Amino acid sequence: MQANNQPIALGTGAGKVILCGEHSVVYGYPAIAVPLSSLRARVTLAQAETGSGVLIHAPDIKYQCSLRHAAKDAPLALAVRMTLAALKQVEPDVIMTIKSDLPVASGLGSGAAVSAAIVRSFSTYTNTSLSLEQISAITYEVEKVHHGNPSGLDNTTVVYEKPVFFERNKPPVIFRIGKPFQLVIANSGIASSTKEVVEDVRHHRQNAQAYYDMLFTCIGAISKAARDAVEQGAIRALGTLLDENHELLVKVGVSLPQLDVLVKAARDAGAYGAKLTGGGQGGNIIALVDTAHVSLVEQAVRAAGATQVWHTKVE
Ligand code: PMV
Repeated sequence: MQANNQPIALGTGAGKVILCGEHSVVYGYPAIAVPLSSLRARVTLAQAETGSGVLIHAPDIKYQCSLRHAAKDAPLALAVRMTLAALKQVEPDVIMTIKSDLPVASGLGSGAAVSAAIVRSFSTYTNTSLSLEQISAITYEVEKVHHGNPSGLDNTTVVYEKPVFFERNKPPVIFRIGKPFQLVIANSGIASSTKEVVEDVRHHRQNAQAYYDMLFTCIGAISKAARDAVEQGAIRALGTLLDENHELLVKVGVSLPQLDVLVKAARDAGAYGAKLTGGGQGGNIIALVDTAHVSLVEQAVRAAGATQVWHTKVE
């Protein structure tokens, strides 16, 4: 499959980080997440030979397949099929190429960002717009393949590309950031399946429901307090809440020694607070930093084993 034709349509989708509330959000407690607008998935469509249909090309994960040969539940194909149905369009003859800044299976919303980018690329190609609700709904359906029982937090944050206060089965609340803040994001290099981690937590909770619900209640309260802190620009207070959330996630059983080491390195280097983000048992940590400490924290997490490090401003 040659992907050297000129792109004729582009769609992009942002990554996201969960500031507080992963896992407890699955059980109805609040969580907050912010988009990572500087780390994105990009999908281009280029004209292909007549009769070829959609040819899917994802060089980052060494995947290529035609839409007509893709399995029914293959996530990329599902996103295309659902998009064409929503747009009421027949399958066009295009090469769809997917590139992403986001590492896969590491809690930064890579799957949702790719789905959103796919929907937008076909929307541009067909010159037919879809509402944010429609894009989010398609992204959610694809997340079900990735995650099994997703809360809806990822697709909402990625598609709306705004800070989101999220409670399952309630309309998402978009909220304002009182003062921009900076995050250092560090990848442990350990890929992790959110689906499996969520399933592990479900099993543990079955054996100790009162204990897990107590942990989730505490995390829910932290999410609410963190939203207030973000709205008020109370960065120090937010840092303390991130620290507390991490300790609770350790108790939930979704951290790993490698993540704890990264969190400690970031705190010791002067971060206001740090925690794992996303499904855990691998993936990334986030550290809340001020300008004076950005490079110190970056160096510290690299020395502590981070395989990739990003610095981003949330505003
Ligand atoms: O690993 P991520 O970034 O997809 O985040 C998952 C967040 C969970 O709360 C663990 C699951 C969910 O569906 O919200």
